[in-house]
Amino acid sequence: MLSVRNAQVRYGMAEALRGVDLEVNEGEIVAVIGRNGAGKTTLLKAITGLVKMSGGEIRFKGERIDRLPAHEIVKKGIGHVPQGRQVFGDQTVEENLILGAYTKIKQQPEQVKKWMEREYQRFPRLRERRHQQAGTLSGGEQQMLALARALMADPPFLVLDEPSMGLSPIYVKLILDTVVQLRKEGKTILLVEQLATAALSISDRAYVLSSGAVELTGPSTELLHDEKVIRTYLGA
Ligand SMILES: Nc1ncnc2c1ncn2[C@@H]1O[C@H](COP(=O)(O)OP(=O)(O)O)[C@@H](O)[C@H]1O
Ligand SMILES: [Mg+2]
Repeated sequence: MLSVRNAQVRYGMAEALRGVDLEVNEGEIVAVIGRNGAGKTTLLKAITGLVKMSGGEIRFKGERIDRLPAHEIVKKGIGHVPQGRQVFGDQTVEENLILGAYTKIKQQPEQVKKWMEREYQRFPRLRERRHQQAGTLSGGEQQMLALARALMADPPFLVLDEPSMGLSPIYVKLILDTVVQLRKEGKTILLVEQLATAALSISDRAYVLSSGAVELTGPSTELLHDEKVIRTYLGA
């Protein structure tokens, strides 16, 4: 479904991605793990059109997307849940959700209402707080909102950048359970996560990024038992 070939990204003199290859097949959860600064966020931003690549190509359902602006990539069906949530703090919960549907709201207003109802059922907390400013929500609630906002355009493909970051264990579980549930609903998911054990436990395959390159890749169950992965990424 998604194919990244030889992706290269530079920030000035610094090479953040040095030729990354990655595939995601329909229906998979694919995890990307790696230390801080490994290039995980840059990879997701290259896919969603938020940074320009200096080389390589990205295809979604066979079609090249790496020269498209970010809003066109959303229209193709890729939803992005950015690192640090990035909700609009001075807008209400509901306004944030409507903004997530901006590619659909003109043509399909009735459908957008249904999707909003679906997200309120998924996250009752958001319904309770729908008239509250997003900036007043807790971190876990903001993460729910960021996820629900991305789902408001009904994307078949979702990229999630460290959704567990800074959350209490209860919210970490809720968010990761939601990721598993979304796959059951037919979504394909690319998940960047610092919590490597959790990411490998819920994913089918994984990539280990190190200094802007793929260090290792394979089925997640194999990486969970790989000596080097255990030593470097899974803690003692
Ligand atoms: N906007 C930027 N300008 C310059 N360097 C950046 C920028 N964003 C990220 N970098 C650098 O690129 C590398 C990869 O960063 P990033 O993709 O955020 O890694 P990760 O998400 O794995 O922590 C790091 O060395 C980081 O300092
Ligand atoms: Mg990051």
